Amino acid sequence: MHDQASRENEMTPNAVLSSIVASSLLVAASFAHADAALRERANALFKPIPERVTEMNGEKIVEAQVQLGRKLWFDPRLSRSHLISCNNCHNLSIGGSDNVKVSVGHGWQRGPRNSPTVFNAVFNVAQFWDGRAADLKEQATGPLQAPVEMNNTPARIEATLRSIPEYVEEFTKAFGSANAVTFDNAARALAAFETTLITPNAPFDRFLKGDDNALTAEQKEGLRLFMDTGCASCHNGVNLGGQAYFPFGVVKRPGADILPENDKGRFAVTNTASDEYVFRASPLRNVALTPPYFHSGEVWDLEQAVAIMGDSQLGRELNDSEVRAITAFLHSLTGELPQIDLPILPPSSPSTPKPELDLPGQLESSD
Ligand code: HEC
Ligand code: HEC
Repeated sequence: MHDQASRENEMTPNAVLSSIVASSLLVAASFAHADAALRERANALFKPIPERVTEMNGEKIVEAQVQLGRKLWFDPRLSRSHLISCNNCHNLSIGGSDNVKVSVGHGWQRGPRNSPTVFNAVFNVAQFWDGRAADLKEQATGPLQAPVEMNNTPARIEATLRSIPEYVEEFTKAFGSANAVTFDNAARALAAFETTLITPNAPFDRFLKGDDNALTAEQKEGLRLFMDTGCASCHNGVNLGGQAYFPFGVVKRPGADILPENDKGRFAVTNTASDEYVFRASPLRNVALTPPYFHSGEVWDLEQAVAIMGDSQLGRELNDSEVRAITAFLHSLTGELPQIDLPILPPSSPSTPKPELDLPGQLESSD
């Protein structure tokens, strides 16, 4: 008589192999099932970045405006000093922001807030930390004039562009009309260019579209936590944020070192008491590339930013492995950054307004 053990011993090598294969297939099948369930939940909350954006505010994007906008983006002559272009503070080589605490503009002045990335900004419901500009075109008119940024005026910008014959030609071509060189059209061209600053094909996007192997096991756990703990109730949609406004400190207000008392966020836009310290839920695409964090730029470590969010927004002290997993997931939001040719800019003419380096207080009232 054979007992159980000896019967097993009699299994042919092939039988052993096939039972191993069968059981590992079973494990794989259950992983695949778990991945499918995770993907289904995620697809209900988030969307992949599209391959391209073809219209903005219902208007088709015009290629000649994109090309002109690319030049304007890199042209420091849009600033009073001729030293500062949009790319200074939104460097397209390093994630579309500047990686300093708060931006530094005209005359080395420090602005009040950290520079957000311009990558995928086209998908945000409104622009700026407090949403005060409705869209990219309205937004672009801000930094050109802000005294602590490019410190220029619409009239001086128009005079600069009109003094450069190639620009006159390009504006005419891009907008199809005479007298096309206007401040408004410059903002329009910048916005058209910015619609091309998108970063598709992040590992997270590949996971959403069906590739189980696009995320590591830890990133999948992080994604699950991101949904289960409630991060996704504010950070959702195509940009995992950028869609709605919430108090920074819904449950517990962070200290003044992280949330400076003088910046009351959306209150300055709406003048409504309930909007004090309310900010747009940050878009989290490419967040691993854009330290430091928060509008104050006070936090350099993404893990620390995640822990602060758990505490301030959810009243939940995340443990170390939860923080690590969520942070690993956030790293999966880094997409393919567009390869952008550095444009050759048309030269100035003798009538181009000259650079002025003075600080605003020292300016002559010439214009
Ligand atoms: C001196 C640095 C500086 C310069 C130069 C600058 N920006 Fe910004 N940009 C910032 C800062 C800081 C913010 C956030 C300000 C706020 O929210 O109050 C910002 C916000 C933005 C946003 C909003 C993004 C979002 O997610 O809300 C866009 C888009 C943008 N800038 C585009 C531009 C363009 C176009 C130019 C050139 C015309 C430009 N910036 C020049 C510093 C700068
Ligand atoms: C109640 C809404 C809400 C919840 C819940 C929430 N956040 Fe936020 N999040 C915000 C707001 C608002 C900001 C902008 C804060 C500021 O003004 O700097 C933000 C900013 C961030 C930033 C900084 C991004 C940057 O570019 O500076 C990160 C990272 C972040 N959140 C991750 C998370 C994670 C992870 C969770 C879950 C543990 C979470 N958030 C939960 C609303 C929320």
